[in-house]
Amino acid sequence: MIIRKPQALKDHDVTDESLYRGRRKFIKTMGAGSILLGSSLAGNVLNAKARQDDLKNELTSYKDITTYNNFYEFGTGKSDPAKNAHTLKTSPWSVTVDGECAKPGSFALEDLLKPMQTEERIYRFRCVEGWSMVIPWMGFELGKLLKRFEPTSKAKYVYFETLLDPEQMPGQKRSVLEWPYVEGLRIDEAMHPLTLLATGIYGKDLLNQNGAPLRLVVPWKYGFKSIKSIVKIHFLEEQPISSWQKANAVEYGFYSNVNPNVDHPRWSQKRERRIGEFRKRKTLFLNGYADEVAALYKGMDLKKYY
Ligand code: MTE
Repeated sequence: MIIRKPQALKDHDVTDESLYRGRRKFIKTMGAGSILLGSSLAGNVLNAKARQDDLKNELTSYKDITTYNNFYEFGTGKSDPAKNAHTLKTSPWSVTVDGECAKPGSFALEDLLKPMQTEERIYRFRCVEGWSMVIPWMGFELGKLLKRFEPTSKAKYVYFETLLDPEQMPGQKRSVLEWPYVEGLRIDEAMHPLTLLATGIYGKDLLNQNGAPLRLVVPWKYGFKSIKSIVKIHFLEEQPISSWQKANAVEYGFYSNVNPNVDHPRWSQKRERRIGEFRKRKTLFLNGYADEVAALYKGMDLKKYY
């Protein structure tokens, strides 16, 4: 298993990206196929391994990942979060888990993370605006965390909330969105082994602009589903309404699956510009994760449930 706890990493471990890429080669020779072993997707491990190997050669630079961001709590420009997110205090941090579960509670981040084994997952990341990246996340499967709270049979959905504090997040003083930022997943999407809670990128702890200390990553969905700086996880029976649905339900649906066949009213979704590249690439159905997740949407009209 490639398990590195970001907390245990020192800066000099990973300051140089070329060193990092070199280390990835080394990991490969050790057998990177272990990346998804232990998950319930045993049958897809080979696919997953091949994909990780391919994506390793397409990694977006650390600089681009940490300076080209969407985090409206710190401004609506792409460079605003890197400039402004230093006002967010990520320690101490606590997360409340409640709703339809047998073991709700409020947890200090350290206690929440202590039993979780952090590992690296290299995922494609596709923004609905038409740009994309390849990001080496550090994180753990959301499902493994959620099971600890023993969701009841009524827990059909999971809802997440970002911190609400306009002093730390000055963008919340403007009503560009309804605050706090909220998102939701169907429980089977949340429990899927590809769905992560991320704590780091390139082996380092998340920077504030990327959603420190804890953010969601759902690689087959548009980037806006990956809610940042999470303080609340709530199990519920009814489908929740996300921030972007509240802002514009015609443009943003609940599912938000990457789908080149369903255009956003203002943007075609057929192609994407990988940050750092000039020529556009074709966008892949479910962002290239169809083998693993298409079954979640069997029989659903994805034009209707966009
Ligand atoms: N989470 C919060 N709380 N606030 C935001 O504005 N933006 C979303 C998502 N999560 C956002 C958020 C959008 S639109 C995208 S594309 C991704 O974060 C961007 O993640 P990145 O900046 O790490 O690339």
